[in-house]
Amino acid sequence: MTDHVLVAVAWPYANAEIHVGNLTGSYLPADIFARFQRLLGKKVLMVSGSDAHGTPITVRADAEKTTPINVYQQFHEGFLDLFQQLGLQYDLFSSTHTGNHFDVSQKIFLALNQNGFLYQEKQEQWYSPAQAKFLPDRYVEGTCYICGYDNARSDQCDKCGNLLEAGKLINPKSKIDGSTPVLKETEHFFLDLGKLQPEIEQFLKNRASYWRPNVLRQSLGQIQTDGLRGRPITRDLDWGIPVPIEGQTGKCLYVWFEAVIGYLSAAVEYSNLIGEPDAWKKWWCDPKSRSYYFIGKDNIPFHAIIWPAELLGLSTTFDEMMGSEKPQRLVLPYDVPANEFMNLEGQKISGSRNWAVYGRDFLSRYDPDPLRYYLTVNMPETRDADWDWNEFFHRNNDELVATWGNLANRVLSFAYKHWEGVVPDPGDLTELDMQLISTIENGFTTVGNEIDAVHLRSAVQETMRLASEVNKYLDQTAPWTAIKTDREVAARAIYSAMRAIDSLKVLFAPFLPFSSQQLHQFLGYDYPLFGSQNLEEIEDRLGKHRVLRYIPIDSGLLWQPSQLKPGHPFNKPAPLFKKLDSSIIEEERNRLGS
Ligand code: MF3
Ligand code: ZN
Repeated sequence: MTDHVLVAVAWPYANAEIHVGNLTGSYLPADIFARFQRLLGKKVLMVSGSDAHGTPITVRADAEKTTPINVYQQFHEGFLDLFQQLGLQYDLFSSTHTGNHFDVSQKIFLALNQNGFLYQEKQEQWYSPAQAKFLPDRYVEGTCYICGYDNARSDQCDKCGNLLEAGKLINPKSKIDGSTPVLKETEHFFLDLGKLQPEIEQFLKNRASYWRPNVLRQSLGQIQTDGLRGRPITRDLDWGIPVPIEGQTGKCLYVWFEAVIGYLSAAVEYSNLIGEPDAWKKWWCDPKSRSYYFIGKDNIPFHAIIWPAELLGLSTTFDEMMGSEKPQRLVLPYDVPANEFMNLEGQKISGSRNWAVYGRDFLSRYDPDPLRYYLTVNMPETRDADWDWNEFFHRNNDELVATWGNLANRVLSFAYKHWEGVVPDPGDLTELDMQLISTIENGFTTVGNEIDAVHLRSAVQETMRLASEVNKYLDQTAPWTAIKTDREVAARAIYSAMRAIDSLKVLFAPFLPFSSQQLHQFLGYDYPLFGSQNLEEIEDRLGKHRVLRYIPIDSGLLWQPSQLKPGHPFNKPAPLFKKLDSSIIEEERNRLGS
C-alpha cells in the first residue's frame, strides 16, 4: 500500500441542518479513519464540500423568498461551524458552487462526450402544467414499479435501493403542490452505462471479497440481475452548472453527475491552495493510492456505479485536458464502506416533524467527544441503529466517565501527588505488570486492523475493553493501599498503569481527539497529536466562497505504544469527561417532536 490515502466524504446538501444520523452515516467515520491513517504516518487527503445545487435548494429559496445562493451559503456556514466544533479534519471542505468545480465538471462532461460515452436522446420528463416547468426527480413521488413502495422518488426508491427509470413511477404526485404531473418531451444527454457495463462489472468483482454485503448487493447484484442502461445527466434547470455545449441554454448538469466529481475537483482546488498545482495526482493518478468513500446507504448506486463509470469513461482524455504529459487513468474507488441509517428513539429521523438531534444544537449543551463516542459505539455499520437518550446517558457515565476518564484521572492525580509530577521509577516489572503492558500494546495491532477495515464500532469497543483491563489490574495491585506500606509496589503499579494510559490515549485518539489531546498534555508532551483547522475565504471567477482546511503538523508515526520513561515530568490532571445527570434523558426527549 502506498502512503497516499484519499478519504472522500459525502457532500452534504446545503439545504438542511446536519443531524446525528448524517454524522454517524458518513462524516464522523471518515474523520476517525483519516485520523488513524494520519497517526500511521500516511499522506491523507480528506475532501468534501457543500452540495450546493439541485432542486431542494431552489424550492427552499422560493419558499423563503430568497435566492438559491443565499440558501446554500447559510447552510454552508453552519457546516463549517459544526465540523470545526466536532473536530472533523477535512484537508479541504469546499463547495460545488466554485469556479474550480464548474471547470472540472465541465471538462469531465466534455471528455466523456469526446470518448463516446454520452448520447443525446429525447425523453419524457415529469412536467407540472400548474407551474409551467419540468419537475425534478426528487419532487415527484409515487409507487415504486419494482417493489411497490409508496413513497419512492421518481429517480430512486429508498426501500429497495434501485435507481428508477424516468416516467415509470406509478401514481406520480408533485411534492411541491400535490398536483399530478404529466410527461412531456425534452432532450437530454445520457451517460452510456450500458457501454461501460463490462468494465464496471469487472471493477466491482475485483473488490467483491472485501466490500460490505449491502454495498455489493446494491451494485454488482443489481447489475447482474437487471443490467445497466443509460442515465440522463442533464436537467431543465437554471441553478447549477451549465452544460458546456452550444445550444443548451436552460440546461444544467444533473446534480448527482457533478456532485461526485467534487472528490476530484476538491483535490485540484486543494493543490492550488497549497501552491502545488499537480499535488492531486498523488492521490488520483498513482494506481497504488487508495480511495475510501464514506457515504450513507442511499448514496450507494452513485458511488459504486455512476462515479466509477464516469472515471472509467474518462480514459486518458481528461488528463490531457488537465495538461498531463503522461496521461494516466484516474484511481477507482478502493472501498465504499457505506453505513445504514440511524433512527431516533425508535422512529425515523425527520426534520419536518422536528424528530431529530442536530449536531450544532447538541454541541451547545454537550462536549464533542461524548457525541463522537456514542455515535461510534452505535454506528450503523451493518444494520440500522437507534439513538436513544437513555443509552447516550449510560454510555457517557458508565463507559466514558467511569471506565476511561476516571482511570486516567485517578492514576495521574495519584502519581502527581505522591511522586511530585514525575513518572515513578518502577524498578523491575513483574509478570503481571508486563502482561498488562503487552495486552495494551497488542491493541495497536487489533484496534488498528479493525479501523483499517473500517470496522469502527468494534474498534472503539475493543479500546474501551482494554481500558477496563487496566482497571482490573489496578484492583489487583491496589497502589492506593500499597503506598502506605510499600512505596515500591505502588510505584510499579502506577508506572505500568501510566504507560498503559499513555498508549490508550493514542488508541482512543481517532475516536476521542479532544480528550486524547488533553490527556497528552497532562502527560507532559509538548507537541500536538494532530494539526489544526482553519477557515479561509477564497475568490475565483464565481465570487467568494469559504472553506475549512486542515493544517497538518510534521508528526511521523504516532500509532505506536507508549515509550514513557521513569522521571518524565507531567502536569496536574483534570477530569477528561463530565458526568451527566439522569434528568437530561427526559429533558432531551421532551425537545423531540414539538
Ligand atoms: N448531497 C448528497 C447527499 O447528501 C450527495 C452526497 S455525495 C456526492 O446525500 F458526492 F455526490 F456529493
Ligand atoms: Zn422499490
